Amino acid sequence: MSKKILLNIVLILLIYNISCTDDSSEEDNNPVAAPILLDPENISGESFTARWLGDATATSHLVDISKDENFIDILSDYNQKSVTAESLVVSGLVDNTQYFIRVASLKDMEKSEYSSVKSARTIDIPDPEPELALRTLTDLPIGAAVQASRLNGSYGQRVSTTHSSLTAEFEMKMKTIFTGIGEYNFTPGDAIVEFAEANDMQVHAHALIWHLSTPDFLENFSGTDQEFENLIRDYIHEVVGHYKGKVASWDVVNEAVNDENGGLRNSIYQQRMGDDFIAKCFQFAREADPDVLLFYNDYNIMFDETKLDASLSIIKDMQDRGIDADGIGFQSHLDINFPTRNTIATSLNKAVDLGLLVHISELDIKVNPGREQNIEFNTNLAQRQRTKYIEVVEEFLRLPRENQFAITIWGVIDGQSWIPNFIGAPDFPLLFNDDLSPKSAHTGVAEAIQNAN
Ligand code: XIL
Repeated sequence: MSKKILLNIVLILLIYNISCTDDSSEEDNNPVAAPILLDPENISGESFTARWLGDATATSHLVDISKDENFIDILSDYNQKSVTAESLVVSGLVDNTQYFIRVASLKDMEKSEYSSVKSARTIDIPDPEPELALRTLTDLPIGAAVQASRLNGSYGQRVSTTHSSLTAEFEMKMKTIFTGIGEYNFTPGDAIVEFAEANDMQVHAHALIWHLSTPDFLENFSGTDQEFENLIRDYIHEVVGHYKGKVASWDVVNEAVNDENGGLRNSIYQQRMGDDFIAKCFQFAREADPDVLLFYNDYNIMFDETKLDASLSIIKDMQDRGIDADGIGFQSHLDINFPTRNTIATSLNKAVDLGLLVHISELDIKVNPGREQNIEFNTNLAQRQRTKYIEVVEEFLRLPRENQFAITIWGVIDGQSWIPNFIGAPDFPLLFNDDLSPKSAHTGVAEAIQNAN
């Protein structure tokens, strides 16, 4: 290639470059483009984040937020709100409300077209439930199962302002109290009784005989059946005697009926003391305290007719033989779908027909009967749970007053309920949230009580 040609090429390239540079200076005069508005993010009850892609030459952006899509009324704090970044946290909003967003870019004083409009609905934050202290609404004992170690601070406060009765969640069961032959640990149970006394509450004691709370030394006891029975008699005498005058009532035997056919569960008590072990235990309890009310307590009897009939006939049989048995505890670990109001009413009235005291003794209402692993509590579940709680309380309050013993809820706050452990899935079965605020079900129970007055 000759030198001349080479020089020409260099010259052409130089001219081309200059003209390109000229072009780019013209680009500066192009109108600034409208930003591309993205979908709003981080939507909460009172804020969301607006985000957009602005023209590269934009120096800032103007954001409008309005409740109407035509932007006739623009929120005063967000009327052409100037932002240099490409995002904005829009806050101070009302929950459960639709907001519309548009953005324009600014280059010096020049304003682009608006972006397309996007919208966000803030999350619905339910109004706080009213503070209705259940115990002030009725003379009927409103109970809770509690653990001694938790009865302090704001939790203790919540328990004592809401309830007029307490039950030990485990501290009065045999596994806690019966530490060895002739050895008894009353310390945690006594703490619950003291808290109840200090706060003018009664105590429903639970439970003298339960196959799932038998200490190992009894389970493996090598003595004769008569010696076993003597141990049980002594235990019941000791424990009922210890709490004589301090508790209103005892679950003497818990869960003795099997789930198959209404027969007796095959437990160590049934094996060692025979089919009449229930009556014997009721007799031992009566020997130790002539006044305390004595209950038989079981689960599923709110809907399992065979089991309910079997439980009732155990009680009836004792009464026919002159053995004191005052009432029946329907544990009532229920769920939002089941049982129906009719079934609840039918079951409770069967106990009334026998003249028994009726205790709704361990009430909780699952919202996750399908045992979903990722379920979260929401307003729909809250409403359905409220409805089922109302059905139980209303049907109970329709029984003759002389048959109503008490309603005991099996726990206070959802996060401490035994249910998630038991079913192996999250659940929210109680009346209070973990921050001790009342749930919708709590309001429902309060209203059901008020309406029945
Ligand atoms: C449960 C308690 O809630 C748990 O804390 C404990 O570990 C096991 O027992 N039926 C009953 C109650 O009669 O005693 C049970 O309580 C729940 C089922």
